[in-house]
Amino acid sequence: MEGEHCQTRIIKIDPQNVDESLLVPPAEVLREGGVVAFPTETVYGLGASIFQPRAVRRVFAVKGRPADNPLIVHIAEKEWLEELTPSCPPAAWRAVEVFWPGPLTIVVPRSAQVPPLVTAGLDKVGIRMPSHPVALALIRLAGVPVAAPSANTSGRPSPTVAAHVAEDLAGKIDWIVDGGPCQVGIESTVVDFTTPRPLILRPGAITAEMLTEVTGVEVGMAPGLSSPAETPPSPGMKYVHYAPQGEMFLFEGPEEKVHAELAKRIEEALAGGKRVGLLLTAEMAARLQVPEEVVAMTLSSRKNPEEAGTRLYGCLREFDRLGVEIILAEGYPRVGRGIALMNRMEKAARRHIRLESDEE
Ligand code: TXA
Ligand code: MG
Repeated sequence: MEGEHCQTRIIKIDPQNVDESLLVPPAEVLREGGVVAFPTETVYGLGASIFQPRAVRRVFAVKGRPADNPLIVHIAEKEWLEELTPSCPPAAWRAVEVFWPGPLTIVVPRSAQVPPLVTAGLDKVGIRMPSHPVALALIRLAGVPVAAPSANTSGRPSPTVAAHVAEDLAGKIDWIVDGGPCQVGIESTVVDFTTPRPLILRPGAITAEMLTEVTGVEVGMAPGLSSPAETPPSPGMKYVHYAPQGEMFLFEGPEEKVHAELAKRIEEALAGGKRVGLLLTAEMAARLQVPEEVVAMTLSSRKNPEEAGTRLYGCLREFDRLGVEIILAEGYPRVGRGIALMNRMEKAARRHIRLESDEE
């Protein structure tokens, strides 16, 4: 089946009032070896039963995902964790007691139940219990742990509505379960609990401070997260991610300087005959003079990185759709959810310009 065209069935499910009878067909397909896209509170996932090696291979194939990038295993009950790992560290247990179901992936030792294909040969496995009612119902009905990366073509922004999934994968997967827009919009926090000090491999809605408070151990950031030049600690981190087709420039610094720089760059890009897009805070949008031919999108107020997170990937896809060649984006303060948001914006951007320093 790999690479072959197939019919993709699409079903809409109301997340407020999940009709489980509608989920029986995709759940059966999932259990029997099909691949099914489904909503989670973070982004849409592309699921395969961990016990169906052909389905897992098909997930890698349809995404164009490198085989050395491990998949997260999704579960519907905390108890399922015990079969997937021989030894869950106490700090990880404390974290999942508080943050599951939710946007937290724990990396723990892998049990023999988990095929190495799923973990790209690693002896540790990433596990998450999502909070989206449709995801939980689907996985529970399938009755198997579900390996699921984000349901986008590798290199494209993660999907936050079912239409994004269809854009990338229609005709290549068996089902798309449409449960509406994702509430968080940015992928889960990934924390490695196998190291003496737990390390965040990918920042998300659950922050290091939240984890430290709940686990009672100091949770750190993996090297490379604060300075991108270092060795990637998580296999997924070495790949170009979330990239829009246009060239994105990310500006960080005092508002006055960013404002002046944006005005200058807009003029330059237009003079160069480029189609320009802007990704702005509401505060900047209110004061910046935007020429008519420029596509301006507002993410949220600077004080609301949560809302910006729900909108980021959709805006990047919209720029692609409109054929924007240069995207000028404004950075957010790196506190709370702003840390994860800026991590994704940095990955999408080809150039990062910090205006306090002299260099670009
Ligand atoms: O929010 C999410 O986590 C979404 C939804 C669908 O649950 N999933 C998602 O999956 O973002 P994916 O495959 O796009 O990203 C998984 C990340 C990658 O950076 C991968 O390298 C890391 O998690 N990861 C998974 N298993 C790992 C492991 N055993 N050790 C280290 N990193 C792991
Ligand atoms: Mg992904």
